[in-house]
Amino acid sequence: MLRTLLMAASIALSVLTGWSQESSQNVSVIPEPVQLVQKPGTFRLHRETTIVSLDRELLSSARYLSDYVNNYLGCPLKVEQIENEPGSIVLVNKKNGEVPGGYQLIINPDGVEVQGNDAAGVFYGVQTVIQLLPTRAGVLPVLPALEITDYPRFAYRGMHLDVARHFFPTSFVKKYIDYLALHKMNYFHWHLTDDQAWRIEMKCRPELTAKGSMREGEIEGLYPGTYKPLPYGGYYTHEEVKEVIAYANERHITVIPEIDIPGHCMAVLATYPQFSTTPNEPKKAALTWGIFNKFNNVLAPTPEVFDFLCDVFSELCDLFPGQYIHVGGDECAKRWWQESKATQRFMKAHALADEKALQSYFIDYVQRVVNAKGKTLIGWDEILEGGVSKDCIIMNWRKPTYGAKAVQAGHRTVMTCSAWSYFNLKESNTQAEIGPRGPLPLEKVYTYQIVPDGLTAEQASLVWGAQGCLWTEYVPTTWKAEFAVFPRLSALAENVWSPVRKKNWENFVRKMETQFERYDLWGARYSEAYFRTHDVVRKR
Ligand code: ACM
Repeated sequence: MLRTLLMAASIALSVLTGWSQESSQNVSVIPEPVQLVQKPGTFRLHRETTIVSLDRELLSSARYLSDYVNNYLGCPLKVEQIENEPGSIVLVNKKNGEVPGGYQLIINPDGVEVQGNDAAGVFYGVQTVIQLLPTRAGVLPVLPALEITDYPRFAYRGMHLDVARHFFPTSFVKKYIDYLALHKMNYFHWHLTDDQAWRIEMKCRPELTAKGSMREGEIEGLYPGTYKPLPYGGYYTHEEVKEVIAYANERHITVIPEIDIPGHCMAVLATYPQFSTTPNEPKKAALTWGIFNKFNNVLAPTPEVFDFLCDVFSELCDLFPGQYIHVGGDECAKRWWQESKATQRFMKAHALADEKALQSYFIDYVQRVVNAKGKTLIGWDEILEGGVSKDCIIMNWRKPTYGAKAVQAGHRTVMTCSAWSYFNLKESNTQAEIGPRGPLPLEKVYTYQIVPDGLTAEQASLVWGAQGCLWTEYVPTTWKAEFAVFPRLSALAENVWSPVRKKNWENFVRKMETQFERYDLWGARYSEAYFRTHDVVRKR
């Protein structure tokens, strides 16, 4: 009854003010804001609508909004560096020292104000404006009147992309970064090297890409698959890397590069066989997938190898302006060290009790290189095994118990446990084309418990946030990458941004109707597995 009365009042007000029924527009914001109060009326965008800000720093956010409205809804908006004027969309950085990334959005029929706690907050406010816009071109672009107060639950909201197993051009990397931005994600983890390839130009070691970016062929289909003797390769130049970093920067996304050592190094060893514990055996970049107990993929602890690590990690630190450098450190097949007399002598000479301690020796070495450049090291959770210094950030990809151990040991930790956040796992068992592993259904991503049980408040505060990963063994094309990522990225985004009390699965499923329309608008491929398997009938 109350709802009917309120609706009648809203319609009456709309009639009085001359605004049409657009005020009843379905509000469907992902991730769910902390507080949202709808009001009667709408704000109409038209060709004279201007996005204004006095702050030069905010012009990229203003341009992002004007480009979006122009590209997707066909309505060009002006951007001006002037003071507020009636009827405009005003961007303000309050620089108030409150939660980074927080913002207020006030939409009235006579204007829109986005007030960020900082510049990132303004950008996220702009993303919410985008989420309130129509999802089809040709519809009058209106925004529902409302007030939103919003801020992120976690400071780290990441997505990873493996470009070693399959290569993706910078045009797609930028598109992927845009998808992150549209979900208020703020870290892009770029997995640049692995057994199958080295994909980043190194001025200090040009052979790495000349040789190590190319493999002899490709295995098609599920492992062991069919061998196709077509050389496969690709890498990013420094100029391309800088372009991607600048693009991400404008979207308030920090790029974290990963060079994976001391295991997962077959592409390095294909370039420098002398860096392995079996230098006289032939080496090539891997054609298949796995941890490679069968093929040697591990660096030997020699002076040449440590010089190499110093050179490449120093260059990486100089190229990437962000604070964080990822050293990998996962799945190091220790048998190669166990079987090597020279390695065992090295361990003895350095009082390293076992191979786990040797693994830590490598990580510690890289950490000192990275720290000397003023940066912070991140590694997969295996780096905890032999001990690692406290200021090293742990990325928990195995069971959540490893993440719990990491924060208990005082490490800042990113949660990306594979069973909940590896989007290369098929979403449902019907999706064999994505790969053999899974399923990882949408609801499981949505309900992923980011903070493990049994932690003190202080330990829980070390959980920095969560990340989705896309390993690309079975993802050779951009459409498959999108198909694997959507809609699970939307579920992760709400999980990592919205307060627990605002999360609601039924409401999320309702909002997904509109989100699918947005994917259509962006031209993104996506999976409808949830809707196919749960008898939820989509509108279109
Ligand atoms: C990993 O999935 N090996 C980090």
